[in-house]
Amino acid sequence: MCGVVGVTGNKNATEILVSGLEKLQYRGYDSAGIFVDQPDGTDYLVKTTGSIADLRKKIGPEVQGTAGIGHTRWATHGGVTIENAHPQFSSDERFYLVHNGVIENFQELKDKYLQGVHFHSQTDTEVVVQLIDKFVKEGMSTQDAFNKTLSLLENSSYAFMLMDREEPETIYVAKNKSPMLIGLGDGCNVVCSDSIAMLNVTHTFLEIQDGDMCIVKPDEVIVNDADGNVAERETFEVSVDPSASDKGTYPYYMLKEIDEQPNVMRKLSAEYLDEAGHPTIDADLVDAIKDSDRIYIVGAGTSYHAGLVGKMQLEKLTGIPAEVHVASEFAYEDPLLSEKPFFIFLSQSGETADSRQVLVNVNKQKLPSLTITNVANSTLSRESTFTLLLQAGPEISVASTKAYTAQIALEAILAKAVGEAKGQSAALNFDLKGQLAVVAQGMQSIVEEKNEINQIAEDYFVEANQAFYIGRGIDYTVSIEAALKLKEISYVHAEGFASGELKHGTIALIEPGTPVIGIITQAGTAGLTRSNLEETAARGAKTLSIVKKSLARPEDTFVIPDVDELLTPLLSVIPAQLLAYYTSLNKGLNVDLPRNLAKSVTVE
Ligand code: F6R
Repeated sequence: MCGVVGVTGNKNATEILVSGLEKLQYRGYDSAGIFVDQPDGTDYLVKTTGSIADLRKKIGPEVQGTAGIGHTRWATHGGVTIENAHPQFSSDERFYLVHNGVIENFQELKDKYLQGVHFHSQTDTEVVVQLIDKFVKEGMSTQDAFNKTLSLLENSSYAFMLMDREEPETIYVAKNKSPMLIGLGDGCNVVCSDSIAMLNVTHTFLEIQDGDMCIVKPDEVIVNDADGNVAERETFEVSVDPSASDKGTYPYYMLKEIDEQPNVMRKLSAEYLDEAGHPTIDADLVDAIKDSDRIYIVGAGTSYHAGLVGKMQLEKLTGIPAEVHVASEFAYEDPLLSEKPFFIFLSQSGETADSRQVLVNVNKQKLPSLTITNVANSTLSRESTFTLLLQAGPEISVASTKAYTAQIALEAILAKAVGEAKGQSAALNFDLKGQLAVVAQGMQSIVEEKNEINQIAEDYFVEANQAFYIGRGIDYTVSIEAALKLKEISYVHAEGFASGELKHGTIALIEPGTPVIGIITQAGTAGLTRSNLEETAARGAKTLSIVKKSLARPEDTFVIPDVDELLTPLLSVIPAQLLAYYTSLNKGLNVDLPRNLAKSVTVE
């Protein structure tokens, strides 16, 4: 989703902006641009509807300024055109603005204040920059005009960076709901939506809050809070090694990230389990969950799918009822809560706007919460009561793989911690450390079967228009995730289905040649899922299976090692991730940057 970068100070702005945008590409975008201002009055606006590499080619050597702003756009209002790409500018080209978020009342503002103004784009953002210009023309200072404009925005999300050509070294910054950080450099300061964009300039960042309006200059940063008072904001250090986000020798990040999963399991085990296999989770967190009467798990997409597994683990190991919710639905449902709820937010990025909206509601009610995320100091992490980090290393490919398995492993560790604290025998007897070692080994053996999986992708999926994953219980939850992986990167329409439910309607879609993959890892339901798979074969489906070793038959396609029933998703998902990868690759698609998608979904 949209990424923003800005810099002002003693360095070449162009290089910092463009390399920052390169780092943000993984979030998904459809156009990009930069504006660079120079104290001598010359300035440059360069935009493209192509890639950042195209943007780089369009920038001439004369663009040498030391202050500027840049943007990757993921279209919300208006198509993918140069005119709609940011930075947007005022009619007299004095003000330039980049924006991540959505202005909900932009049409009303346009109608009310900007009659007669010529608009060159269809964006909601242009309304904001034209408003600022209008208020300045009426006699306000830039700061007052910016504040007044912000006060007119209703129900909106934004991370803005504004430049005024009459103050070439100053960047005005404002944030509400959308992520935004200010980085403190040596002789220069930077602004960005994700610290990864600016780690080659600084590792020290300032945490700005919703409602803040900041003035960033080369040697100072002034933060004004929502009431207009100057505020102190805490700094934090980001210690991610920038080389961890290199692709190395892999053709795509997704394959690298799939291959990293065995090590992520080992790392989580080492980080969160002691020698004897007991969890080393913060005692206050364990107590807070132990004292609750119901656990509410909230997430979106793949994280929601990981939550479905977490519910089963938490209920079995702790005895506390748990429910899982799609964040965007839960946010506005006004749900009836139990007396002592505890919230768990699952979010790889820690920035998902839908999940964050639920957290805002939770915090208003002063309820305890935990964020399980891959990104330290992300918005959800900062705003929830507790944080557990996935320790999976940066996940760059849009399709989430290692974050999903890391979330499931960490949920299991958390469930064991709470279960042990409650004296639950299921938790006390669960050899999680040993099982995670089996999982890591098992993942390793599956990722080594790439050639066979590539062949199956070619034979079954590349030409398919639709596919089904089916399973029961925990296998059903993996079916949904497996189908999501396939559709998002290979554009094959895929569904995950409860295998018993298929015959209640959806089986009508099965045609000769439709691939149907059964996931079978639970002894209690293996026979039933096999029957349901047979029912599709009888109607012409090309069936495949992902089966736990102890339940396997000679005709099964993928046999995964035996592991505890609560951990089987960690293995059964791996062939599905690789099938999606190779289907996309064989179709000649961009595996890491699928169409229409964004890595970090910062609008609701
Ligand atoms: C799919 C995928 C998305 C994300 C979802 C939530 O591969 O990555 O479905 O899981 O957008 O994102 P996070 O986990 O960052 O909250």
